[in-house]
Amino acid sequence: MKLPPFDIVSVDPSAEREHEQMGSKPKYWFRVDGKMWLFKRCRPGTGEDWAEKLAAEVAALLGLPHARVELAEDEGGRGSVCLDFAGGGDLIHGNELLWQMDSGYPREKIWRVSAHTVENVVHVLSSPSLEAPASTVQQLGMTAAQVFVGYLALDALIGNGDRHHENWGLLRFGDRVALAPTYDHASSLGRELRDEKRRASLVGHRVTSYAQRARSALYGSSSDSRPLSTHAAFWQASARVEGSRAAWVARVAGITPHALDQIIQRIPSGRISQEGRQFARRLMLENQSMLCKEPAAS
Ligand SMILES: Nc1ncnc2c1ncn2[C@@H]1O[C@H](COP(=O)(O)OP(=O)(O)O)[C@@H](O)[C@H]1O
Ligand SMILES: [Mg+2]
Repeated sequence: MKLPPFDIVSVDPSAEREHEQMGSKPKYWFRVDGKMWLFKRCRPGTGEDWAEKLAAEVAALLGLPHARVELAEDEGGRGSVCLDFAGGGDLIHGNELLWQMDSGYPREKIWRVSAHTVENVVHVLSSPSLEAPASTVQQLGMTAAQVFVGYLALDALIGNGDRHHENWGLLRFGDRVALAPTYDHASSLGRELRDEKRRASLVGHRVTSYAQRARSALYGSSSDSRPLSTHAAFWQASARVEGSRAAWVARVAGITPHALDQIIQRIPSGRISQEGRQFARRLMLENQSMLCKEPAAS
């Protein structure tokens, strides 16, 4: 059955807006029916809007707690919106947490932070008092660290190179602290490519090498000069968190090409080209097959 195209939210130009400081792109918060949404503008020539939406839908296929995302537009053009998941709690980003653990941690830097290692992140997330997001505890019976490994499986599946220390965090409500849902997946699915490049990659079977080149913002060791690949980040984290690898590989393996087609075809044609759809599909299938094989030495 063919599902209808995804809705496009039009931001009311008279709605009050509050600029969001964090992150790199222009964005603002606005309120609809008492709920806060974050509008993120799509940079010209990119597919950041559809990548953000597709990634959230793929996160849902995996059963991950994720920010709800819709395609959107305002008077300035295309974008996406995501529903506030903090609901009055405090979002504490990874850089703050790692700095609390080690005051020498460079919390002001975003890129090339080699202290953002898999080991350090898993250590922070393995605190016994840390809860998994409520929905996942019930559905999956997983710890926060096990759920975070699922975020890295998602990154590997969609080729998300943006899991830096401001793109994961914890939510604090009073004295309870839980892993925050996964968010900010716009840098994925080949959203930066031009169509001619996508066409050439698809015809020349170069999607595999594109998939293998995806870099995470996580490091294997603080003395490394290059971050890990998205796949190596998943393998290394899943090796450190007992009971996580088999569970996430099984969930990745359970995604059918049909399920991917169902969500890809729901992006309205004014938003994504045929090449954009085909490349995103092929990329996820390549990454899926890489995730379902035992890793080469990472
Ligand atoms: N759905 C959400 N609910 C609550 N806070 C969010 C949500 N999405 C993003 N944020 C906050 O806004 C910041 C910027 O958003 P993000 O999606 O990371 O944008 P950018 O692509 O510019 O980095 C995040 O670091 C986080 O603090
Ligand atoms: Mg961000």
